[in-house]
Amino acid sequence: MKSRRAAWVTGTLATCFVASAQAGPMVWASMGEESYRLLRRAGAQLEQVEPYAVAVQAPTADGRAGTRNESVYLMQVDEEALPRLSHEVHEQLNRCGGFMLHSSRAEGRKVVAQFRDAAARQAHQPAGVSYAIDDQTEVNALLPQLQESNIRSTIVKLSTDYKNRYYTTSGGIGSSNDLLTTWKQLAAGRDDVTVKQFSHPNWPQKSVILTIKGTTNPGKIVVIGGHLDSTIGWTNENSIAPGADDDASGVATLQEVMRVLLSSNYKPRRTLQFMAYAAEEVGLKGSQEIASDYQSKGKKVIGVMNLDMTNYKGSASDITVMTDYTNAAQNKFVKDLVAYYQPSLKVSEDRCGYACSDHASWTNRGYVASMPAEALFDDSNPYIHTPNDTISKSGNNANHALKFAKLALSFAVELGSDGPAPQQAGK
Ligand code: BES
Ligand code: ZN
Repeated sequence: MKSRRAAWVTGTLATCFVASAQAGPMVWASMGEESYRLLRRAGAQLEQVEPYAVAVQAPTADGRAGTRNESVYLMQVDEEALPRLSHEVHEQLNRCGGFMLHSSRAEGRKVVAQFRDAAARQAHQPAGVSYAIDDQTEVNALLPQLQESNIRSTIVKLSTDYKNRYYTTSGGIGSSNDLLTTWKQLAAGRDDVTVKQFSHPNWPQKSVILTIKGTTNPGKIVVIGGHLDSTIGWTNENSIAPGADDDASGVATLQEVMRVLLSSNYKPRRTLQFMAYAAEEVGLKGSQEIASDYQSKGKKVIGVMNLDMTNYKGSASDITVMTDYTNAAQNKFVKDLVAYYQPSLKVSEDRCGYACSDHASWTNRGYVASMPAEALFDDSNPYIHTPNDTISKSGNNANHALKFAKLALSFAVELGSDGPAPQQAGK
């Protein structure tokens, strides 16, 4: 298979991009060097281009950690060019994407600047956070309660109850409302748990957030998220975009973690938040709005795990930790968790090569994020963004996703249990 890796945006546009004959409205976007050159070559309308240098973590030729400069371009681009670009590439089971959309030049500059800061900080462990594995009793009691059959039935439900879960369609809206109902049922009877939709002003699909309030350290938040929306590129009301792996699998995985934590009456010291993001497939829009809201409110998210595609075992490796747009210190913790709680699994590292999913939205706002992925990037599910992204491509089971549920649960409890001990009753 052709390599799909790239910088801010993949580098295969030349073979697929057709400049739109009809110019649409100009929108603010940022992207990497290669895509910028290819967009220009293809004659797309670009205005007010601003280049920036970003130092990114990248292995040196001999495989050691190092940094290298990449160019990022902020510009106004013909809106028609962007989905077109993605669509043409997806037709070849390849991908573009990786561009980020911005509401204004000011917002674009801010995101690029924050990305540069975040890139510089990304190896650093956040202050006051311990990655010690010291909650074995709780974790080991909870792990066996995670059920493959529950993950499987959630994947089937999300991928068959709607034609698609695109951010503007009735399926996109309905899947968010139905998820809200399901999550509220899981939270019933717990007054320390809230379930809310996060509304986005510019499109109708809402993100869904379940919060378990921390007992003694509630101001520190641990986030586990995955995206709810699905796409086949040019998606409309009637498009068939089951998105079973991308990303019903991630939402089903985190929902099973949430079910076990709630049904076992687990009470975290830090606050735990589970998120199903809207509008990932159209430029990480939903998670960008949430991360920017959290940043502007000064919310102290101490760690984020993004689950985007967990149920297609394309590589010999069981869990692949993506090293770009993520935090190296937390990534090591994630690998340690797998080694400790699932010692038979094989773990690898790889890069998407661009801002491939919602972890990048958090990283770009200065938060610490990780992205454990189902396979090496080039081995990941080839059916995504097509009507064939169904659970049958994963053998009609959720065995692979269950490994990610175990990882996410151990992450939630090991990070969520840190803080002052609760007062004993009667003391
Ligand atoms: N799930 C994919 C990202 C992905 C693909 C992760 C392969 C790991 C392996 C995600 O939903 C997606 O499609 N992202 C877009 C980019 C985004 C900024 C619109 C893509 O990869 O084209
Ligand atoms: Zn996708």
